[in-house]
Amino acid sequence: DDPDDAPRDGKKRSNFSEQEAWEEQQIRKSRLHFGSNDGGRAAGDGYGLVFDTAVDFVKSVVQAGDGEMDELAEAIDTKVALHRELQDERKNLPVYQLKDDLLKAIEEYQVLIIVGETGSGKTTQIPQYLHEAGYTAKGKKIACTQPRRVAAMSVAARVAQEMGVKLGHEVGYSIRFEDCTSEKTVIKYMTDGMLLREFLGEPDLASYSVVIVDEAHERTLSTDILFGLVKDIVRFRPDVKLLISSATLNAEKFSDFFDEAPIFKIPGRRYKVDILYTKAPEANYIKAAVGTILQLHLTEPAGDILLFLTGQEEIETVEETLKEAMRGLASKMPELVICPIYANLPTELQAKIFEPAPEGARKVVLATNIAETSLTIDGIKYVIDPGFCKMKSYNPRTGMESLLRAPISKASADQRAGRSGRTGPGKCYRLFTEFNFRNDLDDDTVPEIQRSNLANVVLRLKALGINDLVNFDFMDPPASESLLKALEELFALGALNRRGELTKTGRRMAEFPLDPMLSKAIVASEKYRCSEEVVTIAAMLSAGNAVFYRPKDKQVHADTAKQAFHVGDVGDHVALLNVYNAWKESGYSPQWCRENFVQSRTMKRARDVRDQLEALLERVEIDPCSGAGDLTAIRKAFTAGYFRNAARRQKDGSYRAVKSHQMVFVHPSSGMAQVLPPWVVYHELVETTKEYMRQVTELKPEWLVEIAPHYYQHKDIDEHETKKMAKGKGRAAM
Ligand code: CDP
Ligand code: MG
Repeated sequence: DDPDDAPRDGKKRSNFSEQEAWEEQQIRKSRLHFGSNDGGRAAGDGYGLVFDTAVDFVKSVVQAGDGEMDELAEAIDTKVALHRELQDERKNLPVYQLKDDLLKAIEEYQVLIIVGETGSGKTTQIPQYLHEAGYTAKGKKIACTQPRRVAAMSVAARVAQEMGVKLGHEVGYSIRFEDCTSEKTVIKYMTDGMLLREFLGEPDLASYSVVIVDEAHERTLSTDILFGLVKDIVRFRPDVKLLISSATLNAEKFSDFFDEAPIFKIPGRRYKVDILYTKAPEANYIKAAVGTILQLHLTEPAGDILLFLTGQEEIETVEETLKEAMRGLASKMPELVICPIYANLPTELQAKIFEPAPEGARKVVLATNIAETSLTIDGIKYVIDPGFCKMKSYNPRTGMESLLRAPISKASADQRAGRSGRTGPGKCYRLFTEFNFRNDLDDDTVPEIQRSNLANVVLRLKALGINDLVNFDFMDPPASESLLKALEELFALGALNRRGELTKTGRRMAEFPLDPMLSKAIVASEKYRCSEEVVTIAAMLSAGNAVFYRPKDKQVHADTAKQAFHVGDVGDHVALLNVYNAWKESGYSPQWCRENFVQSRTMKRARDVRDQLEALLERVEIDPCSGAGDLTAIRKAFTAGYFRNAARRQKDGSYRAVKSHQMVFVHPSSGMAQVLPPWVVYHELVETTKEYMRQVTELKPEWLVEIAPHYYQHKDIDEHETKKMAKGKGRAAM
């Protein structure tokens, strides 16, 4: 009898509790489900969800009818069996052999660098060992940071399952806009950015007995800042333990930085991986990847495939192409199960990548970098690596940050290859030449701090009282040009004064877990008396890019529905506001979402985010007030944050950034793509084939001088001058 069987599930529901509790459980269940990678088996109504507490258990027994008792007993058996199985799995992980040595080392040294292959059990096991060893006594917690939200959620779910507790109780996670922890929580997985925020409220992290900076090799911006801050904390808190855990062998650098901290190595279990290169460079790696998958599927023995792509768009293209090809070959080929995974994929669908393919079928996982070290998928035997990823890049001269497709490093390529040799010998197909590998790839990825806009970090550090940024203890310091640019930017936003000190505006901005430009728009909404609207739009912008969807067979309907939110045609920001308000008026109805081709998941998230932003408004003492349809006020508030992102239309329909003269275009998905107003302000740039502005709103040029006089002078918006400069400089921005 399959415990995941749906009808049984329905029966059980009536035994236990009210509709509301049931729904809540379902939500948690889908989370858990996603977190489990043993085929969903342990997720569903298996372990951890039969009863949340002993009281629930007793209640159920008391309430159960005769026939139901058997069912209960069965459910408990399943639960116990799964628990045993999970405990056996835990003991099979490489780190288990070293448990005692590891705990001894942690006891002896305050700072320890831990190195071990991906999948050896660092993330899921070490916090549990520490918990068992008493580090969570006296009300102290263990923090474990992850560079990615998805990883924090999924790992927390897994550990809750292993410990047999409800997610959010003893084990929880905290990511931006979502806090799944409680009073009880002792093991807390969190994004590195969230721990950074915790410093604001608790500068010595007094509630933690252990801080684990996990996946340190990823060297995200937040991780790098954390390094400097936690290094400082261990000096004045002898009781705290600091663990830096990394998947790469390049640990000396961490050790050097942390005053020669000892390195603890977890020997990997890694099988031989054959690396195959292409003979000549591939002109189109998407095509090459699809070809490789099909060929491999036809000729190679059983084993799943993992293909690394750079983002959702590529993943969808490959998925389509593969499906097409399989339709044509259906009778001649065994089944191929296609599983995409990227950060914005709905949680329910993410679970699919962990489910084993049915007998005789082969699974192919199409993943972003997320599968390089953060997520471990069992059963992968073949890796296909085109050698690219999306990477943030920053041009301090123009102040422009963009996500670009870039070649990966040698270290990344080796990580990726290693994903095929976890459970047996594997093969890695590199879609580039051996010459490319040796001569063109960098050894290591440049740390994010050296290719980012630092305005956010500088604001955060200033809010922590760290004024002397030049002497901050960076593992790899950012270019001084970038630091300077960040200071200038914050000055122009009014967050810093001429002496580089935080202003009241800056202090308020730092409270919001948002980009400084968006925080500034919110703070400015006080002046323009439209905080309600601006907070709604900010929430919509933060909830994700997927507000609308466009099914292939209903594109015209979808476009019409979307256009309806663009009344007045002033821009995408106001359209987002219209969407939210209409949804709110419908009573937050999912039905309404379907009818309007709006993603109900994004909307729910926007509502959550909005609630939190509203609470923060109160905290910084901005009264909620509505501009009652004054679209100029709303647009001025955004301009107060985004004035740097102002662009002016050219004769050919392209735009030029007002200050940098960079050539940019309205993204085709924008409601402004047909309108092309003479002056616009945009939310962000995305680069695909061109530099596209996403979320575009019409602007009056005189606002720039009025709102940002530090930044714009009349000559910047003057007809004649602008033309002359644009002509003279060409593509000056690059
Ligand atoms: O951190 P590290 O890469 O060393 O390993 P881990 O993330 O602790 O993973 C240890 C094992 O737990 C792996 O074999 C995974 O298959 C399993 N795991 C899982 O089943 N579900 C998760 N969400 C995370 C890990
Ligand atoms: Mg890990």
